[in-house]
Amino acid sequence: MLLPLSSADLDEAAALFADPRVMVHIDGGTRDRSTTSRLLKANERCWKNNGWGIWAIRDATSGAFIGQGGLQRIPELQEADVEFSVIIGRRNWRTGIATEAANAIVYDSWGRISGGQIHALVHPDSAASGPFLRGIGFRRDDDQLARGETLEVWHTQRLG
Ligand SMILES: CC(C)(COP(=O)(O)OP(=O)(O)OC[C@H]1O[C@@H](n2cnc3c(N)ncnc32)[C@H](O)[C@@H]1OP(=O)(O)O)[C@@H](O)C(=O)NCCC(=O)NCCS
Repeated sequence: MLLPLSSADLDEAAALFADPRVMVHIDGGTRDRSTTSRLLKANERCWKNNGWGIWAIRDATSGAFIGQGGLQRIPELQEADVEFSVIIGRRNWRTGIATEAANAIVYDSWGRISGGQIHALVHPDSAASGPFLRGIGFRRDDDQLARGETLEVWHTQRLG
């Protein structure tokens, strides 16, 4: 189940972002509760202003929080408009839920954005990110210097 990530998700999002093994390859690493609170508020504004943003991914039956995924602005790359990312709690890694949610999010995104491409920036040391992105249809471009380090640049494009 996908619902726009909001301040109502603070407890669960703060726990997810406090896990160093989950956040090790995410820009800035772990986030404390007040940073998470600010990010959730910024995401609420993004949904309000643009009609897209980051979703909370929850189990459809139990409602349990699984992770987050969706779009945000990507100012670091000149030719790119929006960045896609997914962060899943460790207990659900390698269950296929991330792929299922990501496919739904990317498919839905084409109806929400006007551009023809969605990008992703990933740290080269993240063993999971490249295969994960390839599995949901992203292709790798040349690496670029962004956020102070060399990152892998991936993109997927609108069909037709
Ligand atoms: C990247 C991430 C979302 C993948 O989540 P996941 O639950 O493992 O994803 P899935 O179960 O749907 O697996 C999809 C594919 O990802 C790849 N993958 C996942 N973990 C991997 C690992 N440790 N090493 C290599 N490939 C991996 C595999 O190709 C896998 O398919 P398979 O299980 O059939 O082999 C998760 O590891 C995560 O949240 N990491 C921390 C946050 C992060 O780095 N996000 C960046 C993504 S843009």
